[in-house]
Amino acid sequence: MSIKNITCIGAGYVGGPTMAVIALKCPKIKITVVDSNSSKIDKWNGPIDNIPVYEPGLSDIIKKTRNKNLFFSPNIKSGIESAEMIFMAVNTPTKQIGEGAGMAADLKYVEACAKDIAKFSKNNKIVIEKSTLPVRTAEKIKDILKKNSKVEFEVLSNPEFLAEGTAINDLFKSDRVLIGGDNTKSGKKAIKSLVEIYEKWIPKEKILTTNVWSSELSKLASNAFLAQRISSINSLSAICEKSGADIDELSKAIGMDHRIGPHFLKASVGFGGSCFKKDILNLVYISRSYGLDEVADYWESVIKINDFQKNRFVKKISSVFNNNLKNKKILILGWAFKANTNDSRESASIYVTEKLHNLGAIIDIYDPMVSSSKVFSDIELFWKFNFDKSRINFVRTLPKSTYQYDIAAILTEWEDFKEIDYGNTEVFDGRNILKNKKITNYYEI
Ligand code: NAD
Ligand code: UDX
Repeated sequence: MSIKNITCIGAGYVGGPTMAVIALKCPKIKITVVDSNSSKIDKWNGPIDNIPVYEPGLSDIIKKTRNKNLFFSPNIKSGIESAEMIFMAVNTPTKQIGEGAGMAADLKYVEACAKDIAKFSKNNKIVIEKSTLPVRTAEKIKDILKKNSKVEFEVLSNPEFLAEGTAINDLFKSDRVLIGGDNTKSGKKAIKSLVEIYEKWIPKEKILTTNVWSSELSKLASNAFLAQRISSINSLSAICEKSGADIDELSKAIGMDHRIGPHFLKASVGFGGSCFKKDILNLVYISRSYGLDEVADYWESVIKINDFQKNRFVKKISSVFNNNLKNKKILILGWAFKANTNDSRESASIYVTEKLHNLGAIIDIYDPMVSSSKVFSDIELFWKFNFDKSRINFVRTLPKSTYQYDIAAILTEWEDFKEIDYGNTEVFDGRNILKNKKITNYYEI
């Protein structure tokens, strides 16, 4: 079946960029992105410099496709009715209450989507899991669809591998596109119609078709592998600090082995982002629920090292000042979890800054893309309103120098930070981006 109408439920960091790229590459397909958050939809339809997701290259694509074959709408019902293929790109955060709280993925948004799809569908549809989901979620989705509707649905898994900050490039030149579906006549037909869409710009050999469970689990496993590499190199950075070895030299030496490869070996103050921690927690939960405690412990240690690294960074700052940070002026450089995004979910900055604040420091925060209101809403949410506002200030423009500060802490790898004159300030570089800059009082992770 040649698809003419696609709807994506969820206009976030995945739904927005992914659908924009499909719209660009498939001008004959009409794509509607719907979301229950109508103010987010208003922003997608508003001024191009204020769309909800900052991602290099995205606004140009939106300019070319918006209101031509790409539409953003709050009308979920009509979005579902009109589509032959529906992507679910809603959030799947870690559960906060109930069974599996703090570990399992919260599937309430996915389940709500499935119920809406069942309720509003008047003819057969292909439903695609774009969200990252625990293995065997498709079974639950099929159950909900079957119980609540008379029409036929084919459920495919098509996890997204884009990384924020490079999402457009990742979508244009995906390492692979993974499509999991049933090995039945209708399953194969559904897979074929999705393959036909990606084939418009992705080479055939990079489109991998598997069974649904392999596809679902591959996504969790891929994120776990990437995070594990970061925790591995971060654990070695602690040995480097004790032994006098240099972590960047170590990364290079390790990464030159073609079996290992050079990527994701950059030591840092710890990985952040909305995916790694929650997906590993989810994997740990799944492992334990299958009675695989050793497997669960193994993956859980990736998160433990990540927490250790953030604490190590704070301890290092504190130890240079004889464990007394009271009234020390600290400039926090970077609030986003990585460069080239305005996303601060699970950013190391939120955690490190809280600890420094609790040790009595006076803190200025600068980030080129995260707004002041977002910074303060993160602080209120994650520090649980337990902070002294008079000791926290948001800086609106990139500081030219850090002379007025005792400490500068680099927590996001924004290129701009290389231009600052650090003078005699003690610089703690949580991303090792200033290494060759010959700065006095320089500490790397
Ligand atoms: P997000 O929070 O940015 O966006 C999700 C959107 O879904 C929100 O705008 C929310 O309002 C909307 N939504 C939730 N429930 C809804 C419902 N029932 N009906 C309509 N709209 C609803 O999340 P995201 O970062 O885009 O992630 C989405 C999924 O993709 C997650 O499962 C995530 O793990 C996965 N993923 C994310 C990334 C990433 O880099 N952010 C990469 C790969 C995969
Ligand atoms: C990740 C996966 O890379 C992507 O495939 C998946 O679809 C979503 O999750 P994302 O979280 O957006 O993407 O960014 P990523 O580039 O993976 O960085 C995650 C965190 O790891 C960032 O905080 C980054 O600074 C950190 N990182 C990355 C390191 O500390 N060292 C590295 O070598 C690489």
